[in-house]
Amino acid sequence: MEQEQNIIDRMVYLRKTLDMARILTGIQSSGRPHLGNLLGAILPAIELSKDEKNESLFFIADLHSLTTIKDPAVRTENVNATAATWLAFGFDTEQNLLYRQSRVTEVCELTWFLNCFTPYPMLANAHSFKEKSDKLSDVNAGLFTYPVLMASDIILYDADIVPVGKDQRQHIEITRDIALTFNHRYGDTFIIPEAKIDEQVMTIPGTDGQKMSKSYGNTIDIFLPDKALRKQVMSIVTDSTPLEEPKNPDTCNVFALYRLLASKSQVQEMRKKYEQGNYGYGHAKQELFELILSKYEKQRELFNHYMEHADELNQKLENGEEKARAIAQQVLARVKAKLGF
Ligand code: TYM
Repeated sequence: MEQEQNIIDRMVYLRKTLDMARILTGIQSSGRPHLGNLLGAILPAIELSKDEKNESLFFIADLHSLTTIKDPAVRTENVNATAATWLAFGFDTEQNLLYRQSRVTEVCELTWFLNCFTPYPMLANAHSFKEKSDKLSDVNAGLFTYPVLMASDIILYDADIVPVGKDQRQHIEITRDIALTFNHRYGDTFIIPEAKIDEQVMTIPGTDGQKMSKSYGNTIDIFLPDKALRKQVMSIVTDSTPLEEPKNPDTCNVFALYRLLASKSQVQEMRKKYEQGNYGYGHAKQELFELILSKYEKQRELFNHYMEHADELNQKLENGEEKARAIAQQVLARVKAKLGF
């Protein structure tokens, strides 16, 4: 027990003194990644991964997506699209790890152990469950225990920092609670992770102004072919102020998205056009569409390349999975020793 305790202490001490951190985050393969995933989690995580002192573990939460997606072909397509997105945005898989959650089965074993330390009310209070709990017949047990699998995802890899959007804050709190409870009872076993939520992009609005989410059908998928992408952008909901009248950019969904992607001067220019009048929402949408095309031209090409070369994708994922498994096995052994298994 004492020796195990030293491992955690030493790890924390070493990472602190060397100013290094293990960064970990996941994206569910419940659809293709959208602009909310991108700005809320993927880009901030890739930024952190560029610091050589950090080690980054980014994964595709394909087990989580089974709570909603039952069709294997759809899931595989989503998994590939998610992996292709990480790669298109330059995630360096030589220095870091990219993997499919399901390929490191240790996560399921740890989830069972953690289930036995998770109080029922904690899960009953989770937003992910509460949102759907008005129709309990539609809730499967996987959805109910979703936060426990997520806790396993994180603490199985001794992660320090978890970059996520605001909607995941509660899940990280649950993770910390479960890990602290376990540590309290068995001595330090898990690193206690911290969420990193970028204030500027914590909730990206969708085409209807609500949080952009696969389940609300209000997403913008920057990798769609031009015509389909334009259709999504044109579907952004606006008010009915006539074209010639001045408009308030600060209450407009189109402007809200534009300002997240554009340069300062581009934003100022668009603001002026809104305030001057004779500038319609259709014009603003067209500018937003063109900005997405030009800003992400390279990434759109790379994405298509990886989607057409699944063998290349798989090779990168398998490399990551091998390394991820090695970490997971060590941590799981630590847990089993504590539990007497
Ligand atoms: P998911 O797949 O719903 O979303 C992936 C990431 O994108 C962020 N995000 C957003 N950020 C800002 N604005 C939005 N509109 C928006 N929509 C989504 C999410 O906050 C998230 O960071 N349970 C997780 C996946 C997961 C995970 C993990 C994450 C499983 N295990 C371990 C971190 C660590 C989820 O469903 O995210």
